Amino acid sequence: MRKKITVVGAGNVGATVAHRLADKQLGDVVLIDILEGVPQGKGLDLLEAGPIEGYDARIRGTNDYAETANSHLVVMTAGFPRKPGMSRDDLLKANYDVVKGTIKKIVQYSPDCILIVVTNPLDAMAQTAFRVSGFSRNRVIGMAGVLDSARYRTFIAEALNVSVQNVQGFVLGGHGDTMVPVPRYTCVAGIPVTELLPQEKLDAIIQRTRNGGAEIVNYLKSGSAYYAPSAAVVEMVDAIFNDRKKILPCTVYLEGEYGIRGLFVGVLVKLGARGMEQVLEIKLTPEENAALQKSAAAVKELVQVIGV
Ligand code: NAI
Ligand code: 2OP
Repeated sequence: MRKKITVVGAGNVGATVAHRLADKQLGDVVLIDILEGVPQGKGLDLLEAGPIEGYDARIRGTNDYAETANSHLVVMTAGFPRKPGMSRDDLLKANYDVVKGTIKKIVQYSPDCILIVVTNPLDAMAQTAFRVSGFSRNRVIGMAGVLDSARYRTFIAEALNVSVQNVQGFVLGGHGDTMVPVPRYTCVAGIPVTELLPQEKLDAIIQRTRNGGAEIVNYLKSGSAYYAPSAAVVEMVDAIFNDRKKILPCTVYLEGEYGIRGLFVGVLVKLGARGMEQVLEIKLTPEENAALQKSAAAVKELVQVIGV
């Protein structure tokens, strides 16, 4: 039997996630949105691509949560994207209401699902989904680190004129200006990047990574990135459905790891059939740890505003 995936929000990220899920044959997809007609139209359009692309996935769009019943996994993208000049945090209150309302309905119909949260501000919205759902922490996972790390790896590959496949590295912390790329653990074909690029070039790459979302918003003007974000979500779904035990940077609820308790922060985790199966606590220098703590403090400020 194919897995069932609900994507909440049939906008740019949601529809592109649905498209990639179908292409990779990861399961049947229900797209749900408050807009009438949009999820239905996009769902039907994606279904009709099946004979050409060769997928049998059942894809449909709806405004009715009953149709999401018994989903194995739910991707939460509903909300409002950033506009130029807006920070992710400006979205806080508006998206809190959206996430709170939609998660309640999702849990009612799919009490056993795994939740992947995308809506911004990501760390605070993941924490909202966790509190509202009442799920155990292994079943609520925020997507940000895979995207931020992909941007970081792209810029390093570009700087060295090598394949992106040669570049291994990750970004920790919150999905915001305080995110923490960690060059000391970044390798290119096994060679530490610190031996290949001068510090000032690495600093510029780190800054561009932190600004990665805004760079795209400034081009698009009327929305934010969705091709790389949807690819990141689908890598996480693939790791879970195929029980890959894949180590990826994800935003999860920390219970004392890195000295942080009761907060969603981006760290390296193992993703498998049970969702987030392990938090990896890596050694950080005092400077790296200070940057992570600073990033966690920025997340804490947000969650305190909405009281989650
Ligand atoms: P979008 O505006 O294209 O789509 C959002 C969709 O949510 C719209 O179709 C809207 O009708 C729907 N929606 C709003 N309220 C709803 C509700 N109560 N119930 C169901 N659907 C509802 O936005 P886009 O580009 O798809 O982005 C979605 C969210 O993901 C934004 O908050 C954005 O900032 C965030 N994002 C986060 C990333 C990350 O790395 N975590 C990366 C990219 C986007
Ligand atoms: C991004 O980083 C908007 O958070 C989104 O592209």
